[in-house]
Amino acid sequence: MDTAYETVETDVLVIGAGGAGLRGAIAAAESGCRVTVICKSLLGKAHTVMAEGGMAAALGNVAGQDSWEAHFADTMKGGKLLNNWRMAEIHAQEAPDRVLELERWGAVFDRTHSGLIHQRPFGAHTYPRLAHIGDRTGLELIRTLQDRLVHRQNVDVHMEVTVARLFASAGRIVGALAYRRADGGLLLYRARAVLLATGGAGRIYRVTSNSWECTGDGTALAYEVGAELQDCEMVQFHPTGMVWPAGVRGILVTEGVRGEGGVLRNKDGERFMERYDPERMELSSRDVVARAINSEVVAGRGTDHGGAYLDISHKSPDYIRRKLPSMYEQFLKLARVDITKGPMEVAPTIHYYMGGVRVDPETGATRVGGLFAAGEVTSGLHGANRLGGNSLTDLLVFGKRVGEAAAAHALQHGKAGAPRSPEVAEAIACLLGPLQRPEGESPYRLQAELQDLCSKYAPIIRDKPGLEEGLSRVADLAERSRTVGTGGPTGRVFNPGWHTAQDLRNMLVNAEALFRSALARKESRGAHTRSDYPNPDPSLATLNYVVSEGTEGMTVQGIGAEPIPDGLVSIINRSYEKYTPEETE
Ligand code: FUM
Repeated sequence: MDTAYETVETDVLVIGAGGAGLRGAIAAAESGCRVTVICKSLLGKAHTVMAEGGMAAALGNVAGQDSWEAHFADTMKGGKLLNNWRMAEIHAQEAPDRVLELERWGAVFDRTHSGLIHQRPFGAHTYPRLAHIGDRTGLELIRTLQDRLVHRQNVDVHMEVTVARLFASAGRIVGALAYRRADGGLLLYRARAVLLATGGAGRIYRVTSNSWECTGDGTALAYEVGAELQDCEMVQFHPTGMVWPAGVRGILVTEGVRGEGGVLRNKDGERFMERYDPERMELSSRDVVARAINSEVVAGRGTDHGGAYLDISHKSPDYIRRKLPSMYEQFLKLARVDITKGPMEVAPTIHYYMGGVRVDPETGATRVGGLFAAGEVTSGLHGANRLGGNSLTDLLVFGKRVGEAAAAHALQHGKAGAPRSPEVAEAIACLLGPLQRPEGESPYRLQAELQDLCSKYAPIIRDKPGLEEGLSRVADLAERSRTVGTGGPTGRVFNPGWHTAQDLRNMLVNAEALFRSALARKESRGAHTRSDYPNPDPSLATLNYVVSEGTEGMTVQGIGAEPIPDGLVSIINRSYEKYTPEETE
């Protein structure tokens, strides 16, 4: 077994190159640090692009009465007040500046007639608030940040590299072990600060909008090195994913369709949102709309393939092609449906993790010295349910702040520490283990079993027996995964079976945290609905379930959140002027 590795030394190691990683890397580099960015995939390919419909910021370009206060109140109410109020306050206050900065850096936003950045309505936002680029907003955000990043001298980007382990010494982060996917070469990074920006764990479910990279690597790495996780029961089902043909099930259908006036109907032609949220209808929050579609299907009023119809064809074909170009092409090419002429078939799909690494709201610092996190890998901002569009501004606002904080930490601390040799040797042996086990079980089979059990036992509506069964099956899979092989070749040169075995390790940590936290939260709140506890429990309203590694394994503890200051409570309770949309085409 060849255990040789290359050593790379850097000031700030950024793991992940979605919006948070790129914005964090720019901030750290502009603070004067040498920055190394690792991406699991190619630069430019990130789940960020799946936030299609826009980025939420109270610019007030379409609704002049919008304000950071209204945005803050919407975010807190949408998150069922489980949010970290300080993160929600910072986010609402700083989002407009980050959007304008992105515009200065070259993002080509859609425009109002007077030339301002256009903003479209989205679910549970009181005002049209989503600055957008057609329905390709996440893509434009990545393109713009990537362009800015690669023009800096003090930044290196290592593509197709996967991190297998983080190392800490005396409570301080010192580095990471990683491997190159292309040739299997090992890399030992020594860093003064590490910024985790690895996104969520949506791939632990079968039907998901997430691409193959989203296996919860950052949450698992942080947990194993001593950081805490939080709110892991809060997994967002986006109400509208594609349903048919079967091969495209789960691909996102942007909320922008509903923002532009799309209506949902069941198989009997009823506009069923009247029953679930007659005031906001299709623009209710995601948890409500996803549950509504689920209820229609369960009641036998779903479409042939188990979903609902989403129709925008009452708008002109030109308008649809202009405002929703990707949706138009996606349905035409993948489903042979012309959305200018008829409805789409949609059903909920796993989209986003509200839970994740527990961080300091101002800086993204974890409880491990020098380990920071930003974006979907963290928890706090979105509470029990994220509003659409808040993720892209989350990435910009906290990417910048956390990149600066990581740089400040790196500059304050001298040379990077060194990982201890026995720990490095143990991590390498663990990483290379599947390659030594030609007879070992297939990682693909274990991964598929995990996806099926999460879908079956932690669905939109959960209960104790199902969650207990799910947790016990995760434990069985974890046991079997100890002797997993590669399911095929045992070489190190681009070996997807080996990569899957590594992903599986992280997915199992995320699944265990999800089941344990979902069992602990004995109420229904936001995205977490329990049929055996169908209502919110006021005594749990300010309790976060915090996951950490104890001597006996994973533990979950309810920890009370810091009370919301009176001034912010009155902002949440204030009544905001109603917005009356103009009919536009
Ligand atoms: O539906 C969407 O376009 C997704 C946006 C988001 O997740 O923020």
